[in-house]
Amino acid sequence: MAAEMFKYDIVELFPDKAWLEETLKKVDKKLHYSIQKAREVDYIPYTTENGQWKPNKIGWWTNGFWPAMMWQMYLATKDEIYREEAIRTEKMLDEALKDFKTTNHDMGFMWLIQSGVHYALEGNQDSYDRTFLAANLLAGRFNPNGFIRAWNGKEQQGWAIVDCMMNLPLLYWASDVTNDPRFRNIAIAHADSTMKNFVRADGSCNHIVIYDPMTGEVLDNPAGQGCHSGSSWSRGQAWALYGFTLSYMATGKKEYLDTAKKVAHYFISNVLDDYIPRCDFRQPEEPDVKDNAGGGAAICGLLELCKLLPQKEAAVYYDAAVKMLMAMADKCVNWEENDPGLCTMCTEAYLKPQTYHITMNYADYYFVEALTKLRGQNKLFWRPHK
Ligand code: GLY
Repeated sequence: MAAEMFKYDIVELFPDKAWLEETLKKVDKKLHYSIQKAREVDYIPYTTENGQWKPNKIGWWTNGFWPAMMWQMYLATKDEIYREEAIRTEKMLDEALKDFKTTNHDMGFMWLIQSGVHYALEGNQDSYDRTFLAANLLAGRFNPNGFIRAWNGKEQQGWAIVDCMMNLPLLYWASDVTNDPRFRNIAIAHADSTMKNFVRADGSCNHIVIYDPMTGEVLDNPAGQGCHSGSSWSRGQAWALYGFTLSYMATGKKEYLDTAKKVAHYFISNVLDDYIPRCDFRQPEEPDVKDNAGGGAAICGLLELCKLLPQKEAAVYYDAAVKMLMAMADKCVNWEENDPGLCTMCTEAYLKPQTYHITMNYADYYFVEALTKLRGQNKLFWRPHK
């Protein structure tokens, strides 16, 4: 097959370039306001309450998304305010890295996409050191029975979660920069067991799998952030979709690409109504709980997936990604300067109704990642090489 059959040009094919430019301009304006509000507080923005950034702990797993979004916007606009804000908040995160005993598996979310990107863009040693230390801490969570331990609870030695697929790129990065395959081998072992024990035959996924930490036997799969065991937390499906795509890019293992496609088909077939994902694809009809953050991650995963496939195969993913992005911009973004959060309609967990339809910094991040990707920004923050 001719090489160009495999080149799906997501930039060239975007149907409405004026919309893209206009939307990015609106994001730029809104984020100047959001940054001004961020500088009034001494924590990193995550969500908002009563029109203000809500207090947030430095170790919270989403804290890398804010500086990462600043780097995305810096690359898009070259406005120094974004670079300064990224570096200001990268330094704040050193407190979380020092408190390493309390860190969990979310090291990629926290350091790869900002310190790793800062290093890739500017080659500074401090950012390299932060990212490499984060990779070592993540590798240290590996259980040789084939999984990375997610959290630190007294009884959670055998808990792994699908979200970790998005942290594996930190390990691939560490092997790439050191030429030491240990990190990559851990990532592959974890991805292999996730493929086997999380992804179901229909393309839906468990959020959590509890392994026996001594033997690796699967013991249970509780509801996690979805509604019940056996349900289908949409953000978890997005983590699998994007995560397996990234693992395929790093390893070339065809099974990962097939898994990403299977999850993508399942995801797309579940959003055909209005292109805004429900929090759990198997939740009851009422209440109609949405999650725009998982939607944003899925859009970016679908766009990367398109780039790996022949034209005809990619079109279905592209069409869904574009429709989801436009639905998100249309129905789930607050452009007003009355609240510093950009994207609305995000939900932490189905079983935590107090978190229904809030703002979340990573919905903002993925919205921006999708826009910049479609404008031709081709540095992939999940593979931030120089
Ligand atoms: N990684 C936790 C979440 O997606 O909410």
